[in-house]
Amino acid sequence: MTPPPAAADSPTLFVGGGNMAAALIGGLRRAGCPAARIAVIEPQPEQRERLAAEFGVKVLADASAAPEALQRAGLVVWAVKPQVFRAAAEPLATAGGPAVQRALHLSVMAGVRLDAIARAIGLGAAAAGRLVRAMPNTPALIGRGIAGLHASAGASTADRQRVEALLAPTGGLLWFEHESDLDAVTALSGSGPAYVFFFVEAMMAAAERMGLSAEQGKALALATFDGAAALAQASPDPPAVLRERVTSRGGTTFAALESMRADGVGPAIERAVEAARRRAAELGDEYG
Ligand SMILES: NC(=O)c1ccc[n+]([C@@H]2O[C@H](COP(=O)([O-])OP(=O)(O)OC[C@H]3O[C@@H](n4cnc5c(N)ncnc54)[C@H](OP(=O)(O)O)[C@@H]3O)[C@@H](O)[C@H]2O)c1
Repeated sequence: MTPPPAAADSPTLFVGGGNMAAALIGGLRRAGCPAARIAVIEPQPEQRERLAAEFGVKVLADASAAPEALQRAGLVVWAVKPQVFRAAAEPLATAGGPAVQRALHLSVMAGVRLDAIARAIGLGAAAAGRLVRAMPNTPALIGRGIAGLHASAGASTADRQRVEALLAPTGGLLWFEHESDLDAVTALSGSGPAYVFFFVEAMMAAAERMGLSAEQGKALALATFDGAAALAQASPDPPAVLRERVTSRGGTTFAALESMRADGVGPAIERAVEAARRRAAELGDEYG
């Protein structure tokens, strides 16, 4: 008989203790999760020391040092780089056996599909396990991220709620019914911060050409992104209406937008996002 799934407050085991894991552990601790309920497998000694000192959590050098943590873990969080996932999963699956297969698994790894995770922990297919995949973005590190989520058929409502509670301190969350949608999420919000930085860089270069300092350009560009995004969030009107409202025919904004249209900036951005989506799908094939 299959034992019942672990309780919602059962220990959480992180595999990989880098930036993303630290952001999630910090959120858990601030939400009142006792340090004794969190363990981290992390090969880098300095990183282990940092996590232990900052959060008081149990740190382990590898899966073989973690038999008890593996048996007790109700939630396993995969926070290693996708390239090392298989190498990290093998010893864990060997040492953890059925206990690891029964646990709820959350992956924040870009591109690794649920079926690949299921196979790596000894399950036939994703539907046989309680698996959730999240695609966060880097503003998650300061609590301002947005993550796309997809759960396997075997994940319960309580499982989804546990994942939501874990990820809530990183920012907004959106569930998607189809796992393939996470490739589009990767292309939009996962890679998106870099598009914004790229735009800001171009605005800073323009500022310098017009005689302002790079610092002044940066301050103006960043505040403009921040304010415009907040305005679009707060307004019931779609971005296109907000844009039209600040674009009087013959005015300065009109001149800039006409220049962008002539240069094909809109379609170029669409092609760029589509290139990212294609690459996300390719990486999924590679890691699968
Ligand atoms: N940072 C973000 O905002 C962000 C956004 C979206 C998605 N993600 C995803 O989140 C995952 C983690 O990203 P990150 O930024 O936190 O990366 P990171 O800072 O490099 O953290 C990964 C950690 O895992 C360790 N590690 C390597 N092999 C391991 C093993 N076999 N067992 C346990 N730990 C191992 C790494 O150690 P070494 O340095 O020694 O290899 C490193 O400390 C990635 O898959 C990434 O795609 C991150």
